[in-house]
Amino acid sequence: MDFQPKYKSDQPMDLFGDGRANRGEITGTVARGSLNADETFYKGIEHAPEGDHWTTGFPRQLEINDALVRRGRNRFEIYCTPCHGYDGRGMGAVPTRVATTGGAWQARNLVDVSNPVAINMPNGQLFNTISNGYNTMMGYAAQIPPADRWAIVLYVRALQRSQNAALDDIPPDHRSGMQMPEAPTR
Ligand code: HEC
Repeated sequence: MDFQPKYKSDQPMDLFGDGRANRGEITGTVARGSLNADETFYKGIEHAPEGDHWTTGFPRQLEINDALVRRGRNRFEIYCTPCHGYDGRGMGAVPTRVATTGGAWQARNLVDVSNPVAINMPNGQLFNTISNGYNTMMGYAAQIPPADRWAIVLYVRALQRSQNAALDDIPPDHRSGMQMPEAPTR
């Protein structure tokens, strides 16, 4: 009973030609629950006669509502703020710390209208950046499930809007006593 005859992961085994106990995936099969056939939901891609492109909308199975924005904020503040900051301007705790040691390593400013890379990115490309990373930014597909990545995309849109808000965005009855700085100070 103490020593049962069995093979453990990565042990050798002479039954198969390759001498390994591990058996790989069988060509042409998909593991149960891993089909991920919906390219918009899983990859941010939309197919069209003129060619595949990043989706500018959101996958149809997601309901775009207040709860999803809040979920996105919650996930953003866990996974993105260390580098991109709570306001999305790219000076989170990590770049701030790097700066104190005399270095310069800034994460992309996600809300800056003067360098609007992330503002102009279609939703699908933003989703893809979160999934697979970009240059020195690692991908988060392993940690963040797809629906939460979409929630983060939605929250980044909310940040871009709110960080560049004009007086017109504020309902008139909420305007009294508001102070509008010339430009964001952070
Ligand atoms: C460990 C730090 C770090 C974390 C955490 C991080 N990023 Fe980044 N991100 C970066 C850096 C650095 C860049 C700029 C890379 C470059 O330009 O070479 C970047 C770039 C980006 C870009 C621009 C990509 C492009 O094509 O220019 C987007 C969008 C982005 N990040 C979104 C996010 C979101 C959303 C999260 C949270 C899920 C996140 N990042 C988490 C460091 C980080």
